[in-house]
This record gives sequence, structure tokens and C-alpha cells, in this order.
Amino acid sequence: MRAEDGVGVVTESRRGSAVGGVRAVAHPNIALVKYWGKRDEGLVLPRVDSLSLTLDIFPTTTSVCVVPGAVGDVVRLNGVPASGEVLGRVCGFVDLVRGLAGSSERVVVDSVNTVPTGAGLASSASGFAALALAAVGAFGLEVDARGLSRLARRGSGSASRSVFGGFVVWHAGSGSLVEADLGSFAEPVVAAEMDPALVVAVVDGGPKAVSSRVAMRRTVATSPLYGPWAASSAVDLVEMRAALVAGDLEVVGEIAERNALGMHATMLAARPGVRYMSPASLTVLDCVGQLRRDGVLAYATMDAGPNVKVLCRQVDAEQVAKSVREVVGDGAVHIARPGRGAYLLPEDDR
Ligand code: DP6
Repeated sequence: MRAEDGVGVVTESRRGSAVGGVRAVAHPNIALVKYWGKRDEGLVLPRVDSLSLTLDIFPTTTSVCVVPGAVGDVVRLNGVPASGEVLGRVCGFVDLVRGLAGSSERVVVDSVNTVPTGAGLASSASGFAALALAAVGAFGLEVDARGLSRLARRGSGSASRSVFGGFVVWHAGSGSLVEADLGSFAEPVVAAEMDPALVVAVVDGGPKAVSSRVAMRRTVATSPLYGPWAASSAVDLVEMRAALVAGDLEVVGEIAERNALGMHATMLAARPGVRYMSPASLTVLDCVGQLRRDGVLAYATMDAGPNVKVLCRQVDAEQVAKSVREVVGDGAVHIARPGRGAYLLPEDDR
């Protein structure tokens, strides 16, 4: 990213080197047309466009504080010092922001995540969207919304969408890598008034066995179903946008469910196959099918984990949650509604 791409350096006085640093909040988003497969891993450029709904639950709050003279970055997740891959990923992202700011100063990052981390519930989306917003503030960078989305993308692809609230499209970008980097950002989509809810069934809150990064790479490299799915996903996106404009939640749900099942089929066909669905996930899918037969608008989507999200109308959400609760046993069920994009906490809240 360069200054002409919507990034500039602001005055020293607005930088977050005060004790509390700069604090930002972001929410997870759930893709209704999925991102699966990268064209370029370093720039996190996807192979397909995707479309999501930002939720109003499970926020991540992240503060970034520049510590003049410190020798290394400190990263704490839910109060616990991060290490290994997570630390490397966060520091790599902060390096990117440091580079944009022309700074070599170290930071303390404190991130409090209310979503089960690594369980296919988009914790990296809310995490990197909040980190991007807090880090640009801490280093005194002025970034427009598109620039912030492109930046968050570098931390985790789906984070590009959590910069915005409601229904959001993330353009894959096209042309050369430089052109695609500029063109790969998220933005809100036009949608008619609807009353969508997502009932989130946490059938297993533990970390996933295979990271989405590894699973995506393997799927693209080895799955004979990947190409056909990517082609059909482009059609899904066009039809999804039309359904949103028309305010037709039933069609939105139909497309979301077929797109997600298709994505999981591509992974199952990878060599070796990647299976995120567990027996408990299938039980929830059966429950969703039964709800539909009973006349309730309910469609399922799943990401890189066994948890299932059920799209329904807000008026039906309690009933859907009750039915899902009956089949998930010990699992937890949450009702989410459309949420807002990433935002900074005012200074007096810091
Ligand atoms: C299945 O954004 O977590 O949730 O870019 O490698 O960090 P990286 O992947 P990530 O992948 C999300 C994949 C998905 C579908 C989606 O959110 O679109």
C-alpha cells in the first residue's frame, strides 16, 4: 500500500503512544458466498469474490500501544502472552503497518476476543479488523475505509469484510498482482429491508485440526471439485446480490446453503480430504431441513469448523434456536443479528 492508495501519515499528537494506546472493536462476519482459495498467499488475494453478513455478537476489542524504546512487540490474547504462529502472524501484520508509517517502534497489543478462537467462527476476521484499525491509529496513519479493508485483508482475508457492517461484498481483484492488490477490498452491498438473524450453533468450541490457510492451499492444489465450485460461486454471487436487492431472504438462504455445501464438497475431495463437519454438525443440518419442512425459513452455512450457522428471520430466531438447542446437547446456541463495522473506542473509554 502507498500513500496514493488512501494511506497517509497524520500528526504526532494523534498517535497512540499514551498509556491506553488506541482501542478498536470489530465483529465477526459469516460468509453467505464463501471465500475459499488464494491466488496469492503473501498479499492474501482470493480466487473468488465473497459476500458476508457482519454479526452483532462476539466482538473483539484490541488495543495497540506504541512503546518508545521497547526492543520487541508484546502480544496478549485474552490476557495471555501469545507465542508461536499466532505471535508471528500478529507481529507480521504490525510490521506491515510499521512499514507504512516509516516507523521502527515496538508495540503492546492486547486483544480480547469473545468468540471461541479457531473454531470456524471467524475469530480471525474480527481480530484482524480490530487490530488493523487500532494499529493504524497507534502509528498515526490516516486510512480510508477501503484502505483499511485492504490492510485488514493482509492479516486474514475475511477480516477485510469485518471493517463494514451489514451485508458486505469482498472483491477478489483482478489483473496483475499490483492491480489485484488495489482492487481487492470489501464494501457494503445494496440490500432491501430484511429481518435476517443467524442462529450460531457452537457444537465444538475447540481449535480446528487443520487451519483454513492450510486447508485452502490443499483444496486449490488437489481438489478436482475446486474449479467447478469457484465457477458456480461467481454465479452465486450475482444471484445473491439480486436476492439482497429484492429483499428475498428465502433465496438468500438457498444460495448461502448451496454455496457452503459446495465449498465443503471441494475440501472433502482434496487429497487428503479435509472434513470440518462432525456428526453434531450433521445433526444440526438435519434439524434445519426439518424446520424447513415445518414451514420455517431456515438455511445452514458452515465455515472451517464443525459449527453451524442458521440463517432465518428475526421473528423465527427464538424458535430456530430452541429447535437447534434440542439437538446440540452440550453445545451453545447464540442468536446474532446484523452488526456494525469496525470502530474506534473514544479516548475517555480507553
Ligand atoms: C471458510 O479469512 O480465516 O470462513 O485469509 O487464510 O486468514 P485466511 O483465511 P480466513 O478464511 C475464511 C474462510 C471461510 C469462508 C469465508 O469467511 O468467506
